[in-house]
Amino acid sequence: MHILVVGGGGREHAIIRCLKKNPQVQTVYALPGNGGIAADAQCVPIAATDIDGIAAFAKSHSVDYAVVAPDDPLVLGCVDVLEKLGIPCFGPRANAAIIEGSKVFAKNLMKKYGIPTAAYEVFTELDKALAYLDTAPVPTVIKADGLALGKGVIIAQTREEAKAAVRDMMEGHVFGKSGDQVVIEEFLTGPEVSVLAFTDGKTLKPMVSSMDHKRIGDNDTGLNTGGMGTVAPNPYYTEEIAKVCMETIFLPTIRAMNAEGRTFKGCLYFGLMLTPAGPKVIEYNCRFGDPETQVVLPLLESDLLTVMQAVSSGTLEQTEVKFATKHACCVILASQGYPAGYQKGCEITMTEEAAAHTYVAGARLENGKLLTSGGRVTGTTAVADSLEEAIREAYRLSDGVRFENAYRRSDIGRRALQANR
Ligand code: AMP
Ligand code: GLY
Repeated sequence: MHILVVGGGGREHAIIRCLKKNPQVQTVYALPGNGGIAADAQCVPIAATDIDGIAAFAKSHSVDYAVVAPDDPLVLGCVDVLEKLGIPCFGPRANAAIIEGSKVFAKNLMKKYGIPTAAYEVFTELDKALAYLDTAPVPTVIKADGLALGKGVIIAQTREEAKAAVRDMMEGHVFGKSGDQVVIEEFLTGPEVSVLAFTDGKTLKPMVSSMDHKRIGDNDTGLNTGGMGTVAPNPYYTEEIAKVCMETIFLPTIRAMNAEGRTFKGCLYFGLMLTPAGPKVIEYNCRFGDPETQVVLPLLESDLLTVMQAVSSGTLEQTEVKFATKHACCVILASQGYPAGYQKGCEITMTEEAAAHTYVAGARLENGKLLTSGGRVTGTTAVADSLEEAIREAYRLSDGVRFENAYRRSDIGRRALQANR
């Protein structure tokens, strides 16, 4: 089989390695992939947002199955276009990807169908938003409606900070059209859990839970990033909580999307907060999370391609989705300075052992050398019988990945270890 994977980060590298475990997979094309993914797939320089280019390539290369991994092509309707060409796909159509593409849509859906989430107001006019903030409780959370490269959420500690954020979004257009509407919502507290789930719109099968580490600095300090590391499973997510989430959040979301005529097929990501009042939805993503995927897929015992095809054909109910009862930890190496400015073009070297456990996110190949090209550069994952061992092993393996000015957090998994005590 010839498989096409749209995207080019650590998540896509993890998906590709997992797909390749199936002996039926002959070729994997990554569009655009990256310098590290090139070791595992044929990378083709077509951008993930170039829907026409992707469609033309898929048609001319007899692609049998396509996996669309990132949010933007999903929101732009990449799956719709490929399906029209008769190519089965993993990923939601545009009318369902809106669950991530518009925060206003997601919040209104939850309100309409009674799915627990932070209380909120939506604003399309700056004056009204500012007036509301005069009396809103702080801290408060400001969210741009549309996709904003993971930067569209501001936790404001004061009213002044909140007003500045709203002005930046609605007047300064720092996120372009994504900030034309803003959501102002209640600040929630509690441990955060990421749950990715396979769903064909009828059946939903959650994957093993995970914990992201979003801040750049140790002890969750400093700026928000795309994620500096992950562990799975998330120790806060007990079986009892999982049951509550299934009944009050996961299944109601699938039913709500069906009722709206927006059946969701693919990987639905639930960003949850376990608040004193019970689990609530912080955000939905219409795709695999990154770097969550880098700990979740290494624990998958079932064949990924089989599960994905079951999602596409609506036969997930009969298909086993099994995870190892082990622990995984992923440590991200970033370029010093990320998520602000950073140097690019530094040579990356890896021991053979480290390379086998490392997914590459921000790198390009030049004259046979792997050079840094992004903020998050690599993710190194270890799987072990205990969380402690997985963390130790992930750090040891990540020592085998080197480039100038590499930065990593030193406490990935520490909070999870404390939860176990
Ligand atoms: P997002 O970019 O949507 O993943 O949000 C980034 C982070 O902001 C989340 O992982 C949470 O830590 C935080 N956050 C978002 N919404 C809220 C909220 N209502 N209350 C507290 N923290 C929040
Ligand atoms: N790690 C969070 C995300 O993928 O959005």
